[in-house]
Amino acid sequence: MLLLIWYLGCILVTAVQALSPHIILIVADDLGWNDVSFHGSDQIPTPNIDALAYNGVILNNYYSQSTSTSSRAALLTGRYPFHLGMQGESIMAAEPRGLPLQDKILPEFLKDLHYVTKAVGKWHLGFYKKEFTPTYRGFDSHLGYWGGYISYYDHILQNVYPEGQILSGYDFRRNMDTAWELDGQYATDVFTDECVNIIRNHNSSSSLFLYVGHLAVHAGNVGKPLEAPQESIDNFRYIPDPNRRTLAAMVSKLDESVGQIIHALADTDMLNNSIIIFISDNGAPSENWGSNYPFRGIKQSLWEGGVRCIGLVWSPMINSSQRASNELMHVTDWLPTLFSAAGGNLSELAGNFDGVDQWNSISYNEASPRKQVLLNIDEVMKTAAIRDGDWKLVIGSFGTNGSLDRYYGESGRGLRNPVYNISSVTNSTTWTSTAPYRRTDSDTELNKLRESATVKCSFDSQYPETDCNPSITKEPCLFNIVSDPCEMHNLANIHEAVLRQLYHMLIIQKQSLVPQLIKQLDFNGANPAKFNYTWSPWED
Ligand SMILES: *[C@@H]1O[C@H](CO)[C@@H](O)[C@H](O)[C@H]1NC(C)=O
Ligand SMILES: *[C@@H]1O[C@H](CO)[C@@H](O)[C@H](O)[C@H]1NC(C)=O
Ligand SMILES: *[C@@H]1O[C@H](CO)[C@@H](O)[C@H](O)[C@H]1NC(C)=O
Ligand SMILES: *[C@@H]1O[C@H](CO)[C@@H](O)[C@H](O)[C@H]1NC(C)=O
Ligand SMILES: *[C@@H]1O[C@H](CO)[C@@H](O)[C@H](O)[C@H]1NC(C)=O
Ligand SMILES: *[C@@H]1O[C@H](CO)[C@@H](O)[C@H](O)[C@H]1NC(C)=O
Ligand SMILES: *[C@@H]1O[C@H](CO)[C@@H](O)[C@H](O)[C@H]1NC(C)=O
Ligand SMILES: *[C@@H]1O[C@H](CO)[C@@H](O)[C@H](O)[C@H]1NC(C)=O
Repeated sequence: MLLLIWYLGCILVTAVQALSPHIILIVADDLGWNDVSFHGSDQIPTPNIDALAYNGVILNNYYSQSTSTSSRAALLTGRYPFHLGMQGESIMAAEPRGLPLQDKILPEFLKDLHYVTKAVGKWHLGFYKKEFTPTYRGFDSHLGYWGGYISYYDHILQNVYPEGQILSGYDFRRNMDTAWELDGQYATDVFTDECVNIIRNHNSSSSLFLYVGHLAVHAGNVGKPLEAPQESIDNFRYIPDPNRRTLAAMVSKLDESVGQIIHALADTDMLNNSIIIFISDNGAPSENWGSNYPFRGIKQSLWEGGVRCIGLVWSPMINSSQRASNELMHVTDWLPTLFSAAGGNLSELAGNFDGVDQWNSISYNEASPRKQVLLNIDEVMKTAAIRDGDWKLVIGSFGTNGSLDRYYGESGRGLRNPVYNISSVTNSTTWTSTAPYRRTDSDTELNKLRESATVKCSFDSQYPETDCNPSITKEPCLFNIVSDPCEMHNLANIHEAVLRQLYHMLIIQKQSLVPQLIKQLDFNGANPAKFNYTWSPWED
C-alpha cells in the first residue's frame, strides 16, 4: 500500500513537472561561412537556414575545432580536444582509435535527465570495437555511418592511404546492422526522412534529443567527390564553376532538410518546446569547392576560415531572439549550455569541463561568461592558437609550405547571382512553421539582421595581401580580430606585451595537454573485404 502511494506520488510529480525541451542538434559537415546566404552571399540561397537564423540568435563569434573528429569530440564531451588526446588529425577508417571511453558524453548526460536519444548520420568517433559506436555511447538508436564520409548514393567509404593501399567498403548502419536496403538512396534524403520519422513517432511524454550529423556538404570519394540530384543542380545554372554548382545543389538539399525537420516538429506540436541548433563542424576545405570568404584559411587550419563557424540557435524559450550575437562562444559550450537549458543542475555535472553555460547569454542577451577560446594546441604539427578578448595569436603555419594559410574559394558575389529576396525566406517552410514565435517580419529588419551577420574586410581583390606569412618568417602572428577579422595585419611587433601575455596563456594550458592518441593503421585487420565488404568493428 505504502509502495503504491509512493508510486502514484511519483507519477503525479512527473506529470506536473514541465517537460524538458526537445533538443535538435544539426551539424553540417564542412559547410563554409560563405556557403549560406544569411552571411551575405547571394550565390547559394538557403531560405530555411536563413529563416531559422533570422528568428533565432545568430552566433557571429562561434568557434569550433578545425577538423571533424576533434570538433565532434569537443561537442559531445564539453572538453578541449587537447585534453582528450583528440587534437590532431581525424580518425582514419583503418585506425584503431576512438573517443576515449572514460569520457561521459552529451547523450549520456541527457539520458540522466530522462531524454530519448537518437543519432542520425555521421559518427566519426571510432568503430574499431563496437563499444565505441553510437548505440554503446548513450544513443538509443543510430542510422548512419561510422567513418568520416561516404559517397552520397552508394554509401561506400574508400580510403586511399599514403602507402598506396586502397580499402573500400559499405558504411551504412541501422544500429549494428548493415542497412543494405538504403543502398542507392541520396544520403541527405535518407537522414531527413529518418529525422521526420523519429519526430512523428516520438512519444510526447518524454523529451527528445535528436543529433543530426549530416554528410552534406562533405566531399565523397575520389572520382565523384560532389553528388546531388540533377534536378537540384539544374537550379544553379548561373554558377559558372560546375563543381561549385553541384556544391550549391548539395547545400540546397541540406536547406530543404532543415525545413522538413522544422515542419515535422511544428506538425507534432513539439516545436513549442524545442531548442534547435544549426552549426558547422569546421570551415570548408578546398575539396568540396566550399568558401569561407572573406576569412583567411580553410579546414585543418586555425585561421578564422578553419575555426570560425556557422552557428545559430532557435527556440521559443529564447527571451531575446531575432538578433545577431557577437559574444564569444566555443563548441565545448554546447554540453553545459544544453544541460542547463534542459533543466539539469550544473553543479551536479561532475567533470572537468572546458565549456561554459551560455544559455543566459543566448537567451537574455547577457555578456558571454567566456573571455577566451583556446583554439588548439597540436604538439605534433607544432601549431597553436588562442583568442582572448579582441586578440588572437596564431603559432605555426598550416599545410605543406603554408598551403592552408591563404585565402580560398569564391567570394559568392558573382554578377550572375540572383538578387537576394527576403520573400523567398518568408515563403520558406521554416518561416511558416515558426510564425507564432516571432516579434518582427519586417523586410527592413531582416535585411539589417543579415547585414549584422556579414563580415566585411577592407580589401577589393578576392585574395588580399597579408603581412603575416608564418611559413616564411617562422614567427607567430598577432591580430586584433574585431578590427581585422581577415587576419591581414600582424601586430606582433607593435603589441609585444599582448603577444607575450597570450603566449604565456598557451604555455600554461600546454601543461595539461594529453599527447595525441594517433594509432598505426591496421590495413589487414580493418580490411572490409573480410566483412562482406562492409566497414566493421574488427577488434571485437
Ligand atoms: C508514451 O509513454 C508513456 C509513459 O511511458 C506510456 O504510458 C504511453 O503508453 C506511451 N504512449 C504511446 C502511444 O506509446
Ligand atoms: C506553447 O506552450 C505554452 C505552454 O503550454 C502555451 O501557453 C502556448 O500557448 C504555446 N504556444 C503556441 C504558439 O502554441
Ligand atoms: C524576457 O524576460 C523578461 C524578464 O524576465 C520578461 O519581462 C519578458 O516578458 C521576457 N520577454 C520575452 C519575449 O520572453
Ligand atoms: C544543485 O546541486 C548542488 C550540489 O549537489 C546542490 O547543492 C544544489 O542545491 C542543487 N541546486 C538545485 C537548484 O537543485
Ligand atoms: C616546400 O618548400 C621547400 C623549401 O622551399 C621546397 O624544397 C619544397 O619543394 C616545397 N614543397 C612543396 C610540396 O611545395
Ligand atoms: C521577390 O520575389 C517576389 C515574389 O517572387 C517578387 O514579387 C519581388 O519582386 C521580388 N523582389 C525582388 C527585389 O526581386
Ligand atoms: C512560395 O513557395 C511556393 C512553393 O513552396 C511557390 O509555389 C511560390 O511561388 C512561392 N512564392 C513566392 C512569392 O516565392
Ligand atoms: C553481403 O553483401 C551483399 C551486398 O553486397 C548483401 O546482399 C548480402 O546480404 C551480404 N551478406 C551477408 C551475409 O550479410
